Amino acid sequence: MKGAYRRLFATAIPAFTLLVLFAFVFFLPQVHADCSIWSIKVDQIQNGWLNNGEMPIYSVAVRNNCDIPGGCRLGDVHLTCADFNPSFLIDPDIFRHLSSHDCLLMNGANLTRSGVVASFEYAYPKLYPINVSSVTCFPQHP
Ligand SMILES: *[C@@H]1O[C@H](CO)[C@@H](O)[C@H](O)[C@H]1NC(C)=O
Ligand SMILES: *[C@@H]1O[C@H](CO)[C@@H](O)[C@H](O)[C@H]1NC(C)=O
Repeated sequence: MKGAYRRLFATAIPAFTLLVLFAFVFFLPQVHADCSIWSIKVDQIQNGWLNNGEMPIYSVAVRNNCDIPGGCRLGDVHLTCADFNPSFLIDPDIFRHLSSHDCLLMNGANLTRSGVVASFEYAYPKLYPINVSSVTCFPQHP
């Protein structure tokens, strides 16, 4: 009987280890592909001057890096933006200042395609730290 138990464990443990390994190999890419705040990336560069060098102009590109075949379902992207009040108006349908440290991207729309999902320019004496504070991820279609 003892021998049978030992044999059972001798096969059960490697089998279990293999199962765990398979689970990792097959499930990890899916977990990785899931959406998170890291799916949205904000790039800013200073690319010009307003009124002959009076004030820098910053160019902002928001990228959706979530790359799931058929589209990544995320939306309601909020970003930090200090007290965003640049020297010329930004289309609020693209970037809307809601309250202190809270700006909304594309009116909260779902951003299903990957790549640049929004871009705009602003002029201000210094760069606003614009970082993603939250996104809403929706379940992917199987
Ligand atoms: C975004 O997609 C979700 C899930 O399909 C849906 O429930 C929600 O209403 C959509 N939001 C907008 C703003 O279209
Ligand atoms: C926020 O954005 C600014 C400007 O792009 C960047 O320099 C800074 O590192 C970001 N902060 C965090 C916590 O990611």
